[in-house]
Amino acid sequence: MNAAIMKNNAQLNVYADFPILQQHNRGKPIIYLDSASSTQKPQQVIEAITHFYSHDYANIHRGMYELSERSTTFYEETRTAVKNFIHANHTDEIVFTHGTTDAINLIAQSYGRSTFQAGDEVILSEMEHHSNIVPWYLLKEQMGIVIKVIPVTDAGALDMDAYQQLFSRRTKLVALTHASNVTGVINPAKEITDIAHAHHVPVLFDGAQAIAHILVDVQAIDCDFYVFSGHKLYGPTGVGVLYGKQSLLEAMPPYQGGGGMIETVSFSKTTFASSPQKFEAGTPPIASVIGLQAALQYVNAIGIENIFSHDQFLLNNVEHRFADISGLRIIGLAKPKLGVISFVLDDVHPHDVSTVLDHEGIAIRAGHHCAMPLMERFRIPATARISFGVYNTQQDIDAVVNAIQLAKRLLT
Ligand code: ALA
Repeated sequence: MNAAIMKNNAQLNVYADFPILQQHNRGKPIIYLDSASSTQKPQQVIEAITHFYSHDYANIHRGMYELSERSTTFYEETRTAVKNFIHANHTDEIVFTHGTTDAINLIAQSYGRSTFQAGDEVILSEMEHHSNIVPWYLLKEQMGIVIKVIPVTDAGALDMDAYQQLFSRRTKLVALTHASNVTGVINPAKEITDIAHAHHVPVLFDGAQAIAHILVDVQAIDCDFYVFSGHKLYGPTGVGVLYGKQSLLEAMPPYQGGGGMIETVSFSKTTFASSPQKFEAGTPPIASVIGLQAALQYVNAIGIENIFSHDQFLLNNVEHRFADISGLRIIGLAKPKLGVISFVLDDVHPHDVSTVLDHEGIAIRAGHHCAMPLMERFRIPATARISFGVYNTQQDIDAVVNAIQLAKRLLT
């Protein structure tokens, strides 16, 4: 790590690790506040990928030569690193996918199609990202399953009483986000799981947002599936993880067919490898997996608890400063939450807020955030959203507050 990790007891000081942040946006020093969409990559991850392609690259699990053996070893070491990062029980429970979306589609099309019947129910919530709605909608179209939805309170939390009322003898899966990509609200994963398990229903968490901010221990949560993407965790795009309890993965049929996932193939009969290879058809994104290993090392070196403290320091600061801006309304104030803050400003369209900030060098996201049902719940078409990474600072908050004041002057 280039820079001292902690600046004081709450703030990180790792900005210098991110070469992309040393440049300008519209002629001003860039302030990147869109990490919920995708995090920037530290030099350590960039170098790991370059080094791998320069020294160690070959296809994996196929070649009986040194390069291929080395490439395979690094790839499989990443599986162990992921297992340790999320506190899984065994490396066989870690499947590499192309991302969160790919992992949820895998569960829907493999687990869902092989175990659900028409009329069976899946419980989702109003705060889901489209990637945890549409795969189940497709199953509804394909098989006639029923989608039940947990409402969200005015503060942006899950209505846990309503959740308990949704179970019936047809409930087959609870599939929820661990933390909202719009409001940052963190859902009570263990409580959710315990309630579902009392009804003998398995639970899937979409950890796309939570994974980069809070300690995830899949055994402590006792969830049955947990999925996340590398690119929101300081790693490359194109790689994600599906954690599944071994007994579930073993019983699930393959999602895609191809090389690398078979035992024997003939035109009359094909038999499959066991999990996780069964779910990794074709040549995987090998260098992205290696990059993910470097990202996990990077996050571990900082410490996920330190990242959470940093996140909370910035979050508290923003909430405090935003309270002084008249006409600004934060959507979803429930706690605990990640450093993800959605807001609306008077009757200004969030796209216009985003454009003014862009001209001040500040990158945020504005829109429905792939969470249209949540927008409908709050009766708004869109929000402006700032979201933190390890590189953000108190100065970034000063800049964003000044830019929002400017947007107010220009647009209201
Ligand atoms: N899911 C990402 C976001 O919330 C893309 O921005």
